Amino acid sequence: MRAWIDGDLLTDPTGPAVAVTDHGFTVGDGVFEAIKVVGGLPFALDLHLARLGRSAAGLGLPHVDEDVVRRAVRAVVQGQDLPLGRVRSTVTGGPAPLGSGRGDHAPTIVVVAAPMDPAPETTAVATVPWPRNERGATAGLKTTSYAENVIALAEAKKRGATEAIFANLAGHLCEGTGSNVFYVVEGELRTPTLASGCLAGVTRGLLLEWFGAREVDEPVEVVGQASEVFLVSTTRDVQGVHAWDGRTLEAPGPITREAAATWVARESELLGF
Ligand SMILES: Cc1ncc(COP(=O)(O)O)c(C=O)c1O
Repeated sequence: MRAWIDGDLLTDPTGPAVAVTDHGFTVGDGVFEAIKVVGGLPFALDLHLARLGRSAAGLGLPHVDEDVVRRAVRAVVQGQDLPLGRVRSTVTGGPAPLGSGRGDHAPTIVVVAAPMDPAPETTAVATVPWPRNERGATAGLKTTSYAENVIALAEAKKRGATEAIFANLAGHLCEGTGSNVFYVVEGELRTPTLASGCLAGVTRGLLLEWFGAREVDEPVEVVGQASEVFLVSTTRDVQGVHAWDGRTLEAPGPITREAAATWVARESELLGF
């Protein structure tokens, strides 16, 4: 693992680095990106940097200089062998008073790269009872306030799944803790719209462009009629779902296989700094 913080590469990436008063640490006032690395090259770096900037703006953090983050990504990726890896870049409100009010320090920027194992081809998911708030102040932003996801994922794991699926306040299918959902009903590939409150996943957006699907918001119960379901994310790529709340599904089904093949065929177009 290699880590960079506010301009310095750390000699011990697991050692202390961020102030105890950092607003990202004390109240989760921060945004982040997880970026896949393949063969030592980041995937879709421009799209991730753009989303980092949108998330930071949504939180009211000062403007993030994309080139600073890009150089930091290069610094942590180079100098280690990363056939498959993940970069995590985080921007927080920086040192601040101990309450919710932000201080006047510059943001803290941390970029870390580490190896990653490939995801299994298929997995099981579980619906959790807590809703995503599509009307909340942080809806659609990739913030470091992930405690809801931590609770949901722990619940899914108790039920033998590797991903938890949320409906939103309207009862519509929304997303997973770290993935977007695609499903097939009557031969049609569908995925929730961004109005559902799901994150505008980089993988979701590219798959919509490269493969296509209908964006639609429907009650979460629609998955009971689905012949295929797959998850998409930076760490999962296109991953078939073989069980949803214990209901067995064909995985990877024919449309999932086609989507995954399209993904593999196009991915190299977006590798690079
Ligand atoms: C809540 C949430 N939804 C969806 C995704 C998938 O987004 P991406 O394809 O950009 O990894 C993520 C990524 O971690 C996420 O945290």
